[in-house]
Amino acid sequence: MKRVLVATAGGDCPGLNAVIRAIVKRASQEKDWEVLGSIQAFNGVLWEPTEVKVLDEKAVAGIHFQGGTIIETTNKGGPFAWPVKDKDGKWTTADRSDEMIRKLMYMGVDAVINIGGDGSQQISQALYEKGLNIIGVPKTIDNDLSATDSTFGFQTAVQIATESVDKLVTTAASHNRVMILEVMGRNAGWIAMNAAVAGGAEICLIPEIPYDVNKVLEKINQRFIRDRGFTIIVIAEGARAIGKDISKVETNEVGYKNVKFSGAASRLEQELKEAGLKHDVRKAVLGHIQRGGVPIAYDRVLATQFGVHAFQMVMDGKFGEMVSYQHPYITSVPFKDAIKKPNYVSRDTALMRNARGVGISFGD
Ligand code: F6P
Repeated sequence: MKRVLVATAGGDCPGLNAVIRAIVKRASQEKDWEVLGSIQAFNGVLWEPTEVKVLDEKAVAGIHFQGGTIIETTNKGGPFAWPVKDKDGKWTTADRSDEMIRKLMYMGVDAVINIGGDGSQQISQALYEKGLNIIGVPKTIDNDLSATDSTFGFQTAVQIATESVDKLVTTAASHNRVMILEVMGRNAGWIAMNAAVAGGAEICLIPEIPYDVNKVLEKINQRFIRDRGFTIIVIAEGARAIGKDISKVETNEVGYKNVKFSGAASRLEQELKEAGLKHDVRKAVLGHIQRGGVPIAYDRVLATQFGVHAFQMVMDGKFGEMVSYQHPYITSVPFKDAIKKPNYVSRDTALMRNARGVGISFGD
């Protein structure tokens, strides 16, 4: 019996379960393959005792429309930065990658499929360089990977954000208010920009274009005649005013390397008031609501294709590569190319030009 181990790593994302199900369903068509799921990314392999479960067709039945991941995930630690206490009781990290590779050999694992975003695929590349037979599946709601046309989870997040804009419009119009919706997007404004266009927002503020508060105020004021009117602003969590740093909070979570973004909408509200905003303003922070729940059909279809293709790559021995969607093909790219360059919004992106075409201001 040959074994492929599947791990889901980093933040969860609608569509992860559809990928897992597709891998298992494709593998079950081969008589000699077993699929294992490592609980909480690679933690399941590294823990003593290990926590790895067999994923058969029964285990994955009907999970394609469930959000989250049935094998759990984490964005802390990992084989190269395992949290340990030093002799003074302070938290530090240890490299357990060699030990993990040995454990996988001992478990009879022939190949690994790592489903994750940029950070996770950097880990994939490092493990591949150490000789592990590993394949990556891209995952991010932020759509910030450049080596694939799109990733599952992103469209679901856009859908949820758009529905939130729709809801804010009715209350904003009723009260003649400015409504600020903060959405995810640490360094990439794709969710914000898509939701702003789909929801008909007037202002969209993204990490790639630091905004001028006075320009934002000017646009708001154009929307009010005397005190009547309303404005919808969609702001990405990583957006900031010209000359300012991002809005973040300190985290004392052991092994959490990400910056924790927080407060972009509150800060904008404050900045607008200081710049002379006279109208009522309210804000809503969408947070993890946009990452939870049922994946939309588009994401389920993409995720299913990614899962089938990943297993095919295992059979073909295409290790060291990440699945990639390059319309109309599902193909793959070497990890080193996949992690080379992020996918950020640029000023000449067609969607940005067209967003400006319908009057959306980016505060610049
Ligand atoms: O990278 C995906 C993402 O959803 C970001 O948009 C967000 O900043 C981050 O993850 C939040 O991570 P956590 O689940 O650790 O709060």
